[in-house]
Amino acid sequence: MSKKIILLPGDGIGPEIVAEAKKVLDVVNSQFNLDLTFDSDLIGGCAIDQHGVPLAQSTLDKCKAADAVLMGSVGGPKWDALDSSIRPEKGLLKIRYEMGLYANLRPAILYPQLAEASSLKTELVAGLDILIVRELTGGIYFGEPRGIRVLENGERQGYNTYVYAEHEIERIGRTAFDMAMLRNKKVCSVDKANVLEATVLWREVMERLAPEYPEVELTHMYVDNAAMQLVRAPKQFDVIVTGNMFGDILSDTAAMLTGSIGMLPSSSMDANNKGLFEPVHGSAPDIAGLGIANPLATILSAAMMLRYSLQATDAADAIERAVGEVLDDGLRSADIYQDGMKKASTSEMGDAVVAKLQA
Ligand code: IPM
Ligand code: MG
Repeated sequence: MSKKIILLPGDGIGPEIVAEAKKVLDVVNSQFNLDLTFDSDLIGGCAIDQHGVPLAQSTLDKCKAADAVLMGSVGGPKWDALDSSIRPEKGLLKIRYEMGLYANLRPAILYPQLAEASSLKTELVAGLDILIVRELTGGIYFGEPRGIRVLENGERQGYNTYVYAEHEIERIGRTAFDMAMLRNKKVCSVDKANVLEATVLWREVMERLAPEYPEVELTHMYVDNAAMQLVRAPKQFDVIVTGNMFGDILSDTAAMLTGSIGMLPSSSMDANNKGLFEPVHGSAPDIAGLGIANPLATILSAAMMLRYSLQATDAADAIERAVGEVLDDGLRSADIYQDGMKKASTSEMGDAVVAKLQA
């Protein structure tokens, strides 16, 4: 039965990197008889230009009806001055929320070929393999009430609400424990339970789940300490599970440990493993159109899509292997370039992955 994929290239370098991922998907589609069909649509700034909103209802409906969504990135200076209600980022937040994509997996894996690119000493990061499980449809990102109000004295006050209901904590906790069972069986739950009641409950629910996973070791860490430990001794972590905002911040830190945010894929999935897949990095407007962006995070996101939403494990393995071989050959986009390597453009990187798949 054919599977429908919606491509949402978005803004900035998005179209360039999604084009490379599509090349790769076309190859595995025929090699592995996946019967994938593709359609594409707008999200972010380009959608604002076309429809006046960062995510049109017709786009959302299309994505809901599809089997998976592969996204590039959204945003750029052109739309920065817009009212916060229609900024490009709102399109991304809306699609996550409306599709119920609460489970965000952000692996931070250090490719041995890139160990030198890390900002930390090689011995601290060699072999690094962390999975950040970030809650994506709740917490302070979506909590109500929110806004900017005028106080009696005329001063303005900004406010947001940090909320988590038990069922929201429980389901992301299960994702983390399930993932740990497939890995090194350690979950570190990150909270701020010394200050925030919402995370006192978070910790309690994680503890309640733990007996269901007797093989998994559950620990807790305050977010400030977690930020410190990630740069002090990152290899102590296996799976980190945390709320929306802490996950946003810690995943950027974890990404940098690996040398380049340009290498990291992510998946955001609902309860049925239907999902949206996107690189962890942003739209990089400063290099858009120059043909120098690293397409590997998007290509690896396509592999995650095949693995988690489309049950095409062999195709996913093949893509990941091909990416490793391209790095072995010394090919590097500008963001991961080092002396002695071969500098490759966006399309040269994509073509090289394709060539490895066809070899
Ligand atoms: C991310 C991004 C988004 C977030 C922005 C673009 C809304 O930083 O996916 O990490 O904060 O979730
Ligand atoms: Mg972020």
